[in-house]
Amino acid sequence: MSIALVIPDRKLEQLQQKLQQQLPGVAIEIWPEIHQPEAVDFAVVWRQPEQSLSGFHNLKALQSFGAGVDSILSDATLPDVPLARIVDPDLTKSMLNYLHGVLLHYQLRFDQFELQQQTQQWKARSPRKIQQICVLGLGELGKAAVLYFQQLGYQLCGWSATAKQIAGVACYAGDTEFAQAVADADLVICLLPLTAQTENLLNDQRLSQFKPGAILVNVARGAIVDDLALLQYLDSGQLSAACLDVFRTEPLPAEHPFWRHKAIKLTPHISAVTNADTAVLQIAENYQRVQAGLPMLNLVDKQRGY
Ligand code: NAP
Ligand code: GLV
Repeated sequence: MSIALVIPDRKLEQLQQKLQQQLPGVAIEIWPEIHQPEAVDFAVVWRQPEQSLSGFHNLKALQSFGAGVDSILSDATLPDVPLARIVDPDLTKSMLNYLHGVLLHYQLRFDQFELQQQTQQWKARSPRKIQQICVLGLGELGKAAVLYFQQLGYQLCGWSATAKQIAGVACYAGDTEFAQAVADADLVICLLPLTAQTENLLNDQRLSQFKPGAILVNVARGAIVDDLALLQYLDSGQLSAACLDVFRTEPLPAEHPFWRHKAIKLTPHISAVTNADTAVLQIAENYQRVQAGLPMLNLVDKQRGY
């Protein structure tokens, strides 16, 4: 029995070594150099090409190398075996650091001072009022974000598919409560998974429900936001700014207007990158659970898409 690492366009030798240290004696191979496809019973995957798993006839389980699984589930040839994803306090910590940095960037008006610097304008301004933060998605990362900002003294509200109760946080659920969730938020953080239900969720109609002058932070997936609608709302000033870490097409194409928009701050999908050192521990644990006939940890509901 062996493990295949099916993660294209990445150097995987270090990951292979780290996983090997956790699982001595288990054959771990890097796709596409798989010597005995019929021996593969466990694959670690991320943005795998279609058909790349089709030759693994004895596959028992799949482990995503990241938290979001949209790029895995979009494979029409995906074998029908359980899929687990990464849920890691280290990843959550990275996300919270990033979001805190983004919040301070806007609160201290660094976005506006950057523009002033370009035209050598000396104009002092007091910090932006960011009192209420809305988090879209109250799962592993979204819930951690509301708790983190709550203990810093902000007013928090959140939105999810099913109703939640989080002390001191105004929680809303489902389409009918979206408008209430975002109505008074100065900053809206998107931490939803990309699914058929969330694709283009932040379209013209939903952006019109944001508080005038709000700031959008998208650290989830690019396709949740309607790019053209976002540009319109930024151009008209109905939204003050957007910080985007994720894009419909990655890398962001050179001709995309997001690159040059003065109200957009963008980063190259780095807000919470899987840490190989901590990830291998849960990958190894899931591998061992599969060998023992136990359900994996952090299973994805493939019907729901997250
Ligand atoms: P999660 O634990 O699966 O939580 C997802 C949350 O979204 C849940 O609260 C869920 O509601 C809610 N949700 C799903 N569909 C919804 C809908 N149609 N309407 C309203 N709410 C909906 O996910 P997570 O671990 O927090 O991660 C969230 C996403 O962040 C990932 O899917 C990934 O795309 C992204 N991510 C990005 C980076 C990065 O580096 N930029 C890193 C890690 C993750 P219920 O609780 O009611 O089901
Ligand atoms: C990164 O985007 C992840 O989903 O882990």
